[in-house]
Amino acid sequence: MKAAGMDQDMVNMFAIAAGTLAIPLLLFMASFMLWPSSLIKVYYWYWRRTLGLQVRYADCAGYRFCFSHRGKPGLRPSILMLHDFSAHKDTWLPMLKYLPKHLHLLCVDMPGHEGTTRTNTDDYSIQGQVKRIRQFVETIRLNRKPFHLVGTSMGGTVAGVYAACHPSDLCGLTLICPAGLKNQNESKFDSQMHDVEHSHYTLDIPLIPSTPEEMEEMLKLCSHVRFRVPQQILQGLVDVRIPHNDFYHEVFMEIMSENSKYALHEHLQEIITPLQVIWGKQDQVVDVSGAAVIAETLPGCRVDLLENCGHSVVMERPRQTAKLIFDFIISQQGTESVSMKKKS
Ligand SMILES: *[C@@H]1O[C@H](CO)[C@@H](O)[C@H](O)[C@H]1NC(C)=O
Repeated sequence: MKAAGMDQDMVNMFAIAAGTLAIPLLLFMASFMLWPSSLIKVYYWYWRRTLGLQVRYADCAGYRFCFSHRGKPGLRPSILMLHDFSAHKDTWLPMLKYLPKHLHLLCVDMPGHEGTTRTNTDDYSIQGQVKRIRQFVETIRLNRKPFHLVGTSMGGTVAGVYAACHPSDLCGLTLICPAGLKNQNESKFDSQMHDVEHSHYTLDIPLIPSTPEEMEEMLKLCSHVRFRVPQQILQGLVDVRIPHNDFYHEVFMEIMSENSKYALHEHLQEIITPLQVIWGKQDQVVDVSGAAVIAETLPGCRVDLLENCGHSVVMERPRQTAKLIFDFIISQQGTESVSMKKKS
């Protein structure tokens, strides 16, 4: 009787032990399959918390901007970051980890993306986006003092055109593989887009995946390093994007239209802000030959080409990108104080 009772206790104990482990594990797996978006949200929330970032909203005339920020305006210029097409403010997180805590950092959701207002009447052309970002800057009065603007890919086009249109707002500009130039060489994505155009858009746009397979293709296209992503994760990643695909399509058609396609190219010679260009040599979305186009027009700019790096520079080289940007800001402040001393 006693032995049987002990067995029972053991069984109970195992059941409880297995239960306490299995239930969270099952919940975790179920939540990813059922609610990938909430799990991804929790993941970013936790990461932002760890890095000391806070999410805020800025409202202006019925339009709401969502942004995350860390630190306060100080001796160093504030840094505003503009993310890529179909991304969000949290794509900067891997890099923010490597920037000093005392810097004033802001990452805004681009028009229509994530927490920033999405309307189908808004102008998503590059000029339209520049107007919105300026509105954001004025709303939070970021341009009381010149700040440093960073943009990648589509965000890079917007950042570059912003600099051309509002030079007095900025003390520095970092363009990370910006789109919108007439690059000498075609990228893999460019040639894929020719096929899409020939098919009259019956083929899917490689940057707007709607199946796990297309998601995998997009990850391959965007990063140089090859990693195997489990099917469940790919499914989760694509499930999160599908509800937004019509919007992504609308924005994509707008930024690829005549008005926007070469917006950065057309404004390049108007940029007088000290400029830094960072590009992955193996970028398959926006060819690295764009860096030469910028350097030819603006010989004073600083160019850093990264070895073994694709289009997702911030994700692939977070530490190096942070260091390059911070070093550039320090070098700019150095020359600024020298020229001020010379004047006085
Ligand atoms: C364009 O591609 C050719 C052939 O791969 C290469 O030799 C050339 O350096 C590239 N141009 C630029 C500006 O990167």
